[in-house]
Amino acid sequence: MKVAITGAKGMLGTTLTHTLQGCELFALDREECDITDSATVCSVFEKIKPDVVIHCAAMTAVDLCESKQFEAWKINAFGTTNVAYASNKIGAKLIAISTDYVFDGELDRPYHEYDQPNGGLNVYAKSKWAAEQVVRSLCPNHLIARVSWLYGGNGPSFVHTMLRLADGSRSELKVVNDQVGNPTSTKAVADALQILLKTPELVGTVHLTCEGEASWFDFACKIFEIEKINQKVIPCSSDQYPTPAKRPHNSRLEKLVLKESGIFQMPNWEIALEEFLLSHNRQVL
Ligand SMILES: NC(=O)c1ccc[n+]([C@@H]2O[C@H](COP(=O)([O-])OP(=O)(O)OC[C@H]3O[C@@H](n4cnc5c(N)ncnc54)[C@H](OP(=O)(O)O)[C@@H]3O)[C@@H](O)[C@H]2O)c1
Repeated sequence: MKVAITGAKGMLGTTLTHTLQGCELFALDREECDITDSATVCSVFEKIKPDVVIHCAAMTAVDLCESKQFEAWKINAFGTTNVAYASNKIGAKLIAISTDYVFDGELDRPYHEYDQPNGGLNVYAKSKWAAEQVVRSLCPNHLIARVSWLYGGNGPSFVHTMLRLADGSRSELKVVNDQVGNPTSTKAVADALQILLKTPELVGTVHLTCEGEASWFDFACKIFEIEKINQKVIPCSSDQYPTPAKRPHNSRLEKLVLKESGIFQMPNWEIALEEFLLSHNRQVL
């Protein structure tokens, strides 16, 4: 099986490149395959003829997307249009990576795959929601895999930020406690995609986040506990930590499709975090 990965030098792309086995991998970075160039995407895909495209390329800096709106729409929505069109043209299955942020977070329970997103609270979210919609309309043989609160390899991620900030120079760190989600390692997502590559009949939308939930505050405390770092952490509200992009209070994703299909379960977030932090291969996993 031939598998092409867009955005292969990014955090998830790097882990996928080092994890996926039993397939011929084509790790495409921006230089080889700029997804905003429709002719390039078509010709690269025509040449490789992958059976599956895992589309990781995106503009992921959520706050930057607010000030660089044009670029965010160009990469996340228009770029994904090109990837979806080219995948469909060569008959490849498209596995498109999406986000918990397509939901506004107002629901009082975890969102499942059949809940209707309202497009999200910020430019990044809206451009990713548009991307989901073009995938659905342009490439029927698709799997939209929503992930959230990702960390892995060299980052950047919340884990990397916390470890950088806990350098002994700060008596306390204030961390948001009123946003709750599923911290998820790129390794857990890559392991899940390895299984899903062998499950071609699973199409549609699937949530691939770790089991269990945490606030950013809980997440930070767990990082320092595992790393045995003595850093005081103070919970604060989103209002006390304003950011250019508004974020949902409830980012929890229910893995209803995985449960219904009985294929496998995602690992618990605390176990996945410990595996990552204690891994000798932390640079790529
Ligand atoms: N990180 C998270 O917490 C998170 C949460 C939910 C969902 N996701 C989704 O998960 C996927 C992977 O995220 P990630 O954290 O691995 O992101 P990442 O580390 O930012 O990687 C994204 C990659 O896309 C590349 N890219 C950007 N514009 C491109 C273009 N025009 N053509 C080709 N490649 C381009 C980037 O290259 P450059 O370095 O050259 O810009 C980068 O290598 C994304 O779809 C993201 O939306 C991420």
